[in-house]
Amino acid sequence: MELTVTRELHPDQLPAIHAVLDAATRHDGIAPLSEQFLRGLTNPQHHHFLLYDDTTIVGIAAYDGETAELAVTPTARRHGGATLLIDLMGHKPLWAHGNLQPAQHFARHLGYTPSRELLVMAIDGDPLTAATAYQFPDGVELLDLPTAYDRYGSETVDQLWLEANNQAFSWHPEQGGWDLDRLNQARDTDWYRPDDVLTLWENSKLLGFHWVKRHGDLRAGAKGEVYVVGLGDAGRGRGLGGPLVNAGINRLVAEGASLVFLYVEADNKPALRAYQDVGFVVVEHHVLYTRS
Ligand SMILES: CC(C)(COP(=O)(O)OP(=O)(O)OC[C@H]1O[C@@H](n2cnc3c(N)ncnc32)[C@H](O)[C@@H]1OP(=O)(O)O)[C@@H](O)C(=O)NCCC(=O)NCCS
Repeated sequence: MELTVTRELHPDQLPAIHAVLDAATRHDGIAPLSEQFLRGLTNPQHHHFLLYDDTTIVGIAAYDGETAELAVTPTARRHGGATLLIDLMGHKPLWAHGNLQPAQHFARHLGYTPSRELLVMAIDGDPLTAATAYQFPDGVELLDLPTAYDRYGSETVDQLWLEANNQAFSWHPEQGGWDLDRLNQARDTDWYRPDDVLTLWENSKLLGFHWVKRHGDLRAGAKGEVYVVGLGDAGRGRGLGGPLVNAGINRLVAEGASLVFLYVEADNKPALRAYQDVGFVVVEHHVLYTRS
């Protein structure tokens, strides 16, 4: 095998790159590139490195300025291809989606160690339906975002939503420290629906929120996601987390979802416990490897 690496990606190479990613997904049972990096294939701010066997593309590494993801097609593995990609790209932090054995060995071989673990949890069938029952204490009320805007004004609600978000996620590398621009950026997607943002109120105080995401038409079998759920300082320690999670599940089930999943940091033990209590189980591990 004659392996070489180049540092460019032309749009006409996209079908060959997708063939590599599809073959890896079929072989490994999990996609090697996240949605963000798939979108990044056409984003000039992402850096790409292509692995060739002679003139055939057999691997890719991508770097978004913070972390990197890479894949080698199954028939070209164990020939030093991924090592060549890393040699050219540099030892960036690497995501291993699924954290499969080859990735673990490869990371260790390069002197990387795990620095962050993100879990995917899922719930379906009976436990899903069981999780739709919820009740809030007297005086605590759930409003979808359009209703909250009507009652309190959109600027006020967005401000309170950001405050609750930043209190709930003060420790989180991506979800914490948001301003209005960051919130608007998160909402600027083709799937965003204001009525899928549920906000929890006590009089005019926003206690927390649960934003759910539909991955397509729920009635046609698309998955629902517990996208972000958070309680601000005023909502914590009052047993509101469980009902708030269930309220979002209730919405997704009412709209036709038969499977609901979520991402959670592996070291966020209180959240893990809360999701397990509702019936979620861990179905995927995603590990970020770094080299110090
Ligand atoms: C992980 C992956 C990128 C490795 O690609 P590769 O081209 O086979 O890797 P290399 O040939 O450069 O391997 C270098 C070393 O890593 C280790 N390694 C790689 N795959 C291994 C495996 N399946 N079992 C044991 N060790 C392995 C070995 O030490 C290997 O050296 P050796 O072959 O001389 O023993 C590839 O299996 C892949 O695409 N997996 C799916 C995507 C993924 O997990 N990406 C995240 C990587 S952190």
